[in-house]
Amino acid sequence: MAKKLYSLTAIFTTPNEIIKAAKAVQEAGYSKYDVHTPYPLHGMDDAMELKETKLGFVTLAAGIMGATGMISFASWVASVDYPQVIGGKPYWSWPAFVPVTYEIAVLMAVLLTVAALIVFFFKFPNVSHPLHDTPYMKKVSADKFGVSIQAEDPKFNEKVVGDLLKNLGGEVSPVYYSEEFLDFKPQLFEPKFILLLAGIAVVSAGGGYATWNKLLYLPPFDWMMEQPKSKPQSHSEFYADGFAMRPPVEGSIARGFIPYPYKGKPDEAAKYLVNPLLPTKEVLALGKKKYLTFCSPCHGNFGSGDSRLQGQFPNPPTLHSDKVRIWSNGSIYHVITDGQNVMPSYQYQITREERWAVVHYIRTLERALNAKESDLQ
Ligand code: HEC
Repeated sequence: MAKKLYSLTAIFTTPNEIIKAAKAVQEAGYSKYDVHTPYPLHGMDDAMELKETKLGFVTLAAGIMGATGMISFASWVASVDYPQVIGGKPYWSWPAFVPVTYEIAVLMAVLLTVAALIVFFFKFPNVSHPLHDTPYMKKVSADKFGVSIQAEDPKFNEKVVGDLLKNLGGEVSPVYYSEEFLDFKPQLFEPKFILLLAGIAVVSAGGGYATWNKLLYLPPFDWMMEQPKSKPQSHSEFYADGFAMRPPVEGSIARGFIPYPYKGKPDEAAKYLVNPLLPTKEVLALGKKKYLTFCSPCHGNFGSGDSRLQGQFPNPPTLHSDKVRIWSNGSIYHVITDGQNVMPSYQYQITREERWAVVHYIRTLERALNAKESDLQ
């Protein structure tokens, strides 16, 4: 593989020498060069005629972004999303946002400055540099001073530059690009690397969860967690009936619920109740479903009283009797709601609407068994 020259470097032993060298290189008109010293040297900026860094603008922009972002977020939360009167102040009470806005501005400025350094100046995801790990770098990061003039410089000529540096008293050596650097391909999106990241995430999250929530879990206080209380559906020694759950107080009514007004009054139910539903396809389907679930065990699938209960419960009469056929819808509704003799009430199993759907379905069964000539056309 052909070596590619990155720069010519020269090592100097004293601060004065390097400042002199930097000045000479700058005056010779080179622009792509850099100076490396183990500690900051006074006068170096002037010698190199360095302009102010542009990094400050990144920091400023990041800070402004953080501050406006935080102000808007706090304003939105406090006055739109979750408006609360605190201490009698208006919802949008800006002095309260000052500390957090300041904090976020500083935080964003700092984090984004570091990110910008890495991404723009360091050309992330490349994390290497041709000068890294060279004898030159080892010396200038210990006790020597160095200047490195890049081959990219428009005025670069290996011989001229070498002579210049030698004349200045430096110990000159070339630095070549390493193979890895020239072949560099970002490996961030390699499946193996992504898998590794996912693995680390799972292990650290799982480990953290197990440690803090299970192994080392200390309840902050336990008198609510460990309170003596009765759980739903459990036994109670306290109440005479042995149930932990208490029935509602006699006469209590659910909000928005009007109790059935014809309890024990089948004649009034027959007279005043009207089916509020139309016998649409959906209503009949609902009625059929509820009928088959709740009524068919005793009344049979088609209502003819052929119970499936093998005599364990008195067989009901057929629903196709003349009596039931001339009943009003309200009467059937009343039997479902209030029960009749041995037949229990189904008002807690079947909602009102479903009961009316069942009534429609029974009407359909009745009509199906006694279809007239006209029904068939
Ligand atoms: C546990 C069995 C059983 C179930 C379930 C049952 N019934 Fe009954 N049903 C009976 C018995 C028994 C009678 C007769 C009661 C009597 O002696 O008056 C009856 C009577 C009736 C009557 C009056 C019939 C008449 O001629 O007086 C109607 C209407 C009726 N049931 C509808 C229904 C509907 C609708 C359902 C489903 C929501 C249902 N039943 C669920 C057992 C049951």
